Amino acid sequence: MKTLTISSVVLALANIGSTHPTPKKSTITDVDILQYALTLEHLEDKFYREGLANFTLKHFEEAGLDETFYKNLNEVSYDETTHVAFLTSALKAANATPVAECTYSFGVTSVASFIATAGILEGVGVSAYLGAAASIMNKDYLTAAGSILTVESRHSSYLRGAQKQSPFPQPFDAPLDFNEVYTLAAPFITSCPESNGKLPVKAFPMLALDPSITKVETNATITLDTKDDESNYGKHEFYAAWISVTGPTYVPAKWCGDKNKFETMVPPGFHGQSYVLITGTKDCMTDDCVVAGPAIVEVSGASGME
Ligand SMILES: *[C@@H]1O[C@H](CO)[C@@H](O)[C@H](O)[C@H]1NC(C)=O
Ligand SMILES: *[C@@H]1O[C@H](CO)[C@@H](O)[C@H](O)[C@H]1NC(C)=O
Repeated sequence: MKTLTISSVVLALANIGSTHPTPKKSTITDVDILQYALTLEHLEDKFYREGLANFTLKHFEEAGLDETFYKNLNEVSYDETTHVAFLTSALKAANATPVAECTYSFGVTSVASFIATAGILEGVGVSAYLGAAASIMNKDYLTAAGSILTVESRHSSYLRGAQKQSPFPQPFDAPLDFNEVYTLAAPFITSCPESNGKLPVKAFPMLALDPSITKVETNATITLDTKDDESNYGKHEFYAAWISVTGPTYVPAKWCGDKNKFETMVPPGFHGQSYVLITGTKDCMTDDCVVAGPAIVEVSGASGME
């Protein structure tokens, strides 16, 4: 187990913000952040309502989950619906037109994939609220966002526990910035009403853990797939940037010829739902340096058990 000294924590905290770029505050307003949060809550809300319409208690029981779990999942669904209503009225109170629900494609085929996707969405939700916190100007909004974040975090632990994953795999959660979260949400969104307007966010080229890999451990070599086949990756050096609250850990990544695949490894210190981007420059996470990602990589185990 790693020893944490006070000075290493202070040093680490001093790095927060300087190594993980937050969006320029002048371009992202509090209303933008509320719209962004509402965009994510709509996605989660629709996801649970659709899943609970797809699957009955009987389906859950057949999948080895009991009635208590089913009831708790209905409560999770209620929470997301209530978050949507709350953010919608906050935006109306700020004289903005709240974004409406989009249409989505979740690709869920079984109770197991419903629960697995739920766990992933809750984890992204936690990292999204955490990453947005520093950009929120109004303190009342910050407290409200915090009160949603803690609930999403408990949803996440509950769903992870139900899948025999560590409910709290590490001492710090990873913040994701607006573009990183949007990159992860975009594949689920089929189309949105024209009236929603455009959020000041963009999606990077997608990146995903190669589907042939079923278990990922510390120090393992992994393959990440991207669909972007326009760039000539062969000419560059690449890095995998693993996101943490104290800034990314960069490890070399190798482009595997013409297969749109990168090979890299899992550095020590990352457990649970982890996020990794491919960058073209070491120690650089600006939009210009990001090649693809983030990919979500579930690293087994927990920090204190390493
Ligand atoms: C619900 O079922 C449809 C049809 O099988 C599927 O496309 C969709 O992804 C499912 N959604 C959820 C959240 O279970
Ligand atoms: C990972 O590799 C490092 C460096 O070789 C080593 O010190 C560490 O013990 C390894 N950790 C695990 C969990 O294998």
